[in-house]
Amino acid sequence: MLNEIKKIESELEKKFAEIKNFDDLNNVKTYFLGKKGVVSALGPMMASLSSEEKKECGIKLNELKNKINDKLDEIKEKFEAIELETKLKSEAIDVTLPATKLNIGSSNILERIIEEVEELFMSMGYDVVDGPELEEDRFNFELLNIPKGHPARDAQDTFYIEDENILLRSQTSPVQIRTMLEYKGEKPVRMICPGKTYRRDDDDATHSHQFMQIEGLLVDKNISLSDLKGTFDVLAKKLFGPDIETRFRPSYYQFTEPSVETDISCFNCHGKGCNICKNTGWITVSGAGMVHPNVLRNCGYDPSVWTGFAFGFGAERLAMLKYGISDIRTFYMTDLRELKNFDRKELNND
Ligand code: DAH
Repeated sequence: MLNEIKKIESELEKKFAEIKNFDDLNNVKTYFLGKKGVVSALGPMMASLSSEEKKECGIKLNELKNKINDKLDEIKEKFEAIELETKLKSEAIDVTLPATKLNIGSSNILERIIEEVEELFMSMGYDVVDGPELEEDRFNFELLNIPKGHPARDAQDTFYIEDENILLRSQTSPVQIRTMLEYKGEKPVRMICPGKTYRRDDDDATHSHQFMQIEGLLVDKNISLSDLKGTFDVLAKKLFGPDIETRFRPSYYQFTEPSVETDISCFNCHGKGCNICKNTGWITVSGAGMVHPNVLRNCGYDPSVWTGFAFGFGAERLAMLKYGISDIRTFYMTDLRELKNFDRKELNND
């Protein structure tokens, strides 16, 4: 028995030296201490020994087992330390390396110009109001002083839905009507309404069957055309720079009297004449005027007490002018290269 133990002891170093990984470690453990391992095999041999020998061999056998276990634990700890170190090395992050650039989306340039206009008007106490795009004829036309069969309707080629009473709004002006009706002629109105509008236009570089208008309305006591002029002047300067001048030209709309066409001095050539202003030095940006007494009356406002001004302009046209975009269709496409270009255009302008 003691010989057997010695034999096993002489094997130890060689077996331990062969351990290169966790699998080897397990195999060696099984080889010595497993149920059928060489050390376990000595157990039954004890039965035939004298009690003296049993005692001696028992101690030796235990020492052997402990020695093997200790050594295997030691090797295991070493392997675990190496494994941890390799893992840490592989997961190391070099914080000095340049970061991977994330592609982050941004709002459309059209959306941004609308926000700019909204911010300005909100700072002057206006509300931003929404209205339905599917509109009733009376809001889009009749209450705006454009009765059925009136030739002024021809100017706005309208998409009718099912019958002649429901349509895709051809302008944001119906939101003026809705707001005034809601206020019941009792209190002043200050609102702008940016929103989608639709006309049966053939799409080309300057026309789109769907486009954005920004409508504005102010109704109060003692409001005159000069209030409109001042407001428009502030807007023009905010969007196109402090040197911009503004002017009104007489025009005609059913819902305003007098009506005007609003021009800004050309931000590109400052009046010298260029292709943007078609050599006139001026660029037309919106329609506007004093709210027609009929419209005020239709909405419950007494025109002898209340007066107001209204304006409406195309958001795309403003953005095209501001950022030098020549085709309206670029706003509605999904080509990321073009959209990125918008960002650059804005940066250059600011
Ligand atoms: N709704 C007009 C259009 O689409 C624009 C407009 C002109 C709106 C004068 C107004 C206004 O509110 O007062 O052509």
